[in-house]
Amino acid sequence: MGKFYVTTPIYYVNDKPHIGHAYTTVVADIFARWHRLIGDDVFFLTGTDEHGGKIQKSASEKNKTPKELVDENSQKYKLMWEKLNISYDKFVRTTDDYHEKTVKQFIEKVWKSGDIYKGEYEGFYCLPDERYVSESELVNGKCPDCGRDVQKIAEEAYFFRLSKYKERILSAIKNGLIVPEKNANEILARLEDELKDLDITRKSVSWGITFPFDKKHSVYVWFDALLNYVSALDWPDGKLFKEFWPADIHIVGKEIVWFHSVIWPAMLMSADLPLPKRVIAHGWWTVDGKKMSKSIGNVVDPMEMSDKYGVDSFRYFLIKEKPIWEDGDFSEQALKSRINGELMADLSNLVARVLTLAERFDGKIEGKRELEGFIDKKRIEEAFDNYNLYAAINLIFEGIRKVNKYFNDMEPWKLNGNALSNVLYNALESIRIIAIFLKPFMPLTADKIEEKLGINNQSIKDAFFKEFTGKVVRGENLFDKIN
Ligand code: MSP
Repeated sequence: MGKFYVTTPIYYVNDKPHIGHAYTTVVADIFARWHRLIGDDVFFLTGTDEHGGKIQKSASEKNKTPKELVDENSQKYKLMWEKLNISYDKFVRTTDDYHEKTVKQFIEKVWKSGDIYKGEYEGFYCLPDERYVSESELVNGKCPDCGRDVQKIAEEAYFFRLSKYKERILSAIKNGLIVPEKNANEILARLEDELKDLDITRKSVSWGITFPFDKKHSVYVWFDALLNYVSALDWPDGKLFKEFWPADIHIVGKEIVWFHSVIWPAMLMSADLPLPKRVIAHGWWTVDGKKMSKSIGNVVDPMEMSDKYGVDSFRYFLIKEKPIWEDGDFSEQALKSRINGELMADLSNLVARVLTLAERFDGKIEGKRELEGFIDKKRIEEAFDNYNLYAAINLIFEGIRKVNKYFNDMEPWKLNGNALSNVLYNALESIRIIAIFLKPFMPLTADKIEEKLGINNQSIKDAFFKEFTGKVVRGENLFDKIN
């Protein structure tokens, strides 16, 4: 049994969560559930990023205090994660006392390492991305990441000696810190330019943690936010910190890899702490072929999708539609066709047909292990080890189709006695094993299947053919056709 620490980014609470936030969190949840299934001791962290000028501005536009806004919106994230069955162990908020204390303590440590000095920042700032943009990075005068307007700032600031750590950062990345390689290469290319020291305080932003060495400054929101990964473990002396740090994987969207693979490692190096093992970058969702935006009005609300189509259908779609590292497109049409085509036709129908016959059968269900190996357990494990959820779900559905084919080929509706028992045995054992592998992806569906089979709480150790000991109840369909 090992330990496994997985994190999501902490989300800005200027608004309610959308499909992009749901995606990062569902991906992290699947890793957490998988590692629990294989017996690891798991800590799964998520939370909200609540300071900074962007939140301050958003609150004032809504005629609220920042505190009112962050309390309200962080609650929306919690409700969303409840709806999407996110099995997090801790929800960190950067306005929590212990977090603010950690940030101050950490800054003191970095100060003692001689890595903070006073200077003057002159350049640009992208408020929606909360990032500094240098003159040479501007694209047509706009932010190179999001294409939006930037503000010019010139103010006194405290700097962190990021440049000092360049060689060590390069070597961490070359040693596999970032997955996949294309994102690693992007960061390596960016590091070919000069790596400048980082402005870590803002004089003109009041909604932030007070900089401990100069009360006129607040801590730059990213310097504050990244520390959530250790404040949540009660750094420096907490039991959780000793047990779980360094993180096994930080799941992040591709646009924030820089912060997690350059700035964060340098902060950790300065405080003499081990680096996270992996930063996994995922691609972005467009909606109906367009970039998601409030002005277009195509922002997908995961709550609405889950209510309309079911939580597990939505989770399944997010993983089955594209490999993690690629971009993908969401449309209700595509979601519907996956429900009708795969969840209903492949999975739900199989379970319904097998259980209908099994329920009626009144002998002992036993037989020869003809379908053993129908699902490629080893390759599924490898897929998880390579962070490839897309490959894992495809392997599971390959298995499901094999059972379907077996069931059709055997024509059990024409059989009785031992011959029928044999087919039912093979199909039921396969379905039982399918439920185990579906647990990380579709936890509710996996539970429903187990309930229908009259068993519960299976782990990966049960994923092999044995005696069928369940008691079958067909019940309702797992999925119904959507018109
Ligand atoms: N607060 C920072 C993270 C700090 S972590 C120390 C932040 N927050 S965020 O609210 O903007 O959202 C972060 C996550 O949402 C990222 O992983 C990002 O990729 C994801 N998404 C936001 N929009 C997205 C899409 N349209 N598609 C996929 N994911 C995207 O950044």
